[in-house]
Amino acid sequence: MKTYPLYINGEFVAPESSATLDVIDPSTTDVIARVPDAGAADVARAVRAARMAFDEGAWKETTAQERGRILFKIAEAVRARASELAELECRNTGKPIVEAEFDVADVATCFEYYGGMATKIHGDVIPVPDNAMSLALREPIGVAGQIIPWNYPLMMAAWKLAPAICAGCTTVLKPAEQTPLTVLELASSFADCGLPPGVINIVTGVGENAGAAIVDHPDVDKIAFTGSAEVGKAIMRGAAGTLKKISLELGGKSPNIFFADADFDVAVEGALFGIFVNQGEVCSAGSRILVQRPIYKKFLDAMVEKARGITLGPPLDRETKMGALVSREQFDRVLEYQEIGKREAKIALGGGRAKGQALERGYFVEPTIFYDVDNSNRIAREEIFGPVASVIPFDTEEDALRIANDTYYGLAAAVWTRDIFRAMRTVKNLRAGIVWVNHMQPTYVEAPWGGYKQSGIGRELGKWGVEEYLNVKQVYINLSEQPIGWY
Ligand code: NAI
Ligand code: MG
Repeated sequence: MKTYPLYINGEFVAPESSATLDVIDPSTTDVIARVPDAGAADVARAVRAARMAFDEGAWKETTAQERGRILFKIAEAVRARASELAELECRNTGKPIVEAEFDVADVATCFEYYGGMATKIHGDVIPVPDNAMSLALREPIGVAGQIIPWNYPLMMAAWKLAPAICAGCTTVLKPAEQTPLTVLELASSFADCGLPPGVINIVTGVGENAGAAIVDHPDVDKIAFTGSAEVGKAIMRGAAGTLKKISLELGGKSPNIFFADADFDVAVEGALFGIFVNQGEVCSAGSRILVQRPIYKKFLDAMVEKARGITLGPPLDRETKMGALVSREQFDRVLEYQEIGKREAKIALGGGRAKGQALERGYFVEPTIFYDVDNSNRIAREEIFGPVASVIPFDTEEDALRIANDTYYGLAAAVWTRDIFRAMRTVKNLRAGIVWVNHMQPTYVEAPWGGYKQSGIGRELGKWGVEEYLNVKQVYINLSEQPIGWY
């Protein structure tokens, strides 16, 4: 079993802290690796390396073309190691191998996309009413602290690292304590890709300790965080101490709205995919399924029928369509919400721990469908982050919109209908950062990702993602050689 070191200043180094964290395979609960439980001293060392690389190191001199080429090489390294990385991601998260393979492909694409963007960041020339030239330069913000979750570990690392490197920043990244392995493995390829020491530093540890130390550190210029709304708020408060720029991608309770005229079979599958992909451990999970009354009963029955066919099994098995939840904590949390749901609403499917010999040791739960849920119920208001659907009936378009928007969250939403007028009205009135029409979940690196309301601040991906890592500098160049003549 491997014990990993930290990755600081281009090297794998022993931590100052001797404490370690067990990393498990949640489908068996076997310990598969150990990582340092780093503290403030290790974070300080990583920030020093990142600071040096930004202020004085070779990184400062790299051209945009060079940064682009490094990102292309990282993309190629990911592709060359795709099966190894996908297998490790699958073992560490409990997600199905086929889904892990899609994730790793997206990781490569993300590095490639930002490799192409590196040479396209440029400022503006602004007409000003004087004999002067006014410029707006776009400069890297400095050292970025990046704190990521466990549901898409390597993809979340890529979404944070790629735009930061593209912009010319340096980074200290803290993976989730449950899933630190794939990014540490990928780090062994960074030097070969031409990445100078100190540009990316990886510190493992728990949030309250290593994570908070990154947020508090005065030499960190920006925090990018993905995770729970609760921690997002703590990070915003923490970052206020040194007034850091922050971007937050938090949770959701996203509505998936089905009008009676939707293409029935396609819609039923869309409802299931929206909530059950990645075991429901998805920030944009379509956890509130709003169904119009004329099709309500038939739709629910069809969902249940199809969901019965979802194969739970060992994550490495290619037939598996739903794997294990990531941790004991998440398993307990989902089981608790299943019990809450049984008290609040009616149950159509599942409702407990998954049964079957291959599943007994791991954190598998049954795909669960509650119906006749009221939008005021806890299972309709709180993020569960597991395969638990709340089906809610509605009558009119106005009802659907009122229910859909009645949430503190605003990450994602979807609407299914063949009526283009209704589709576009709904798109316009939904308060969410991502809205799908006749689909739910696909997203591409080219397009913006982020939330309205309490689902976050800022946008990741696309041209928007890189803005989070840039500062704007106004430059005024006087072209007149005359005295000002004021005094
Ligand atoms: P979390 O928000 O506690 O953890 C996410 C990351 O933040 C991890 O790297 C963690 O170490 C770090 N962190 C935790 N506390 C911190 C602090 N005080 N300062 C700095 N960093 C800190 O999420 P957790 O506890 O793993 O899951 C709880 C719930 O959060 C889930 O059930 C789900 O509802 C939600 N969640 C949402 C995600 C999303 O993609 N929006 C991802 C993961 C969890
Ligand atoms: Mg937590």
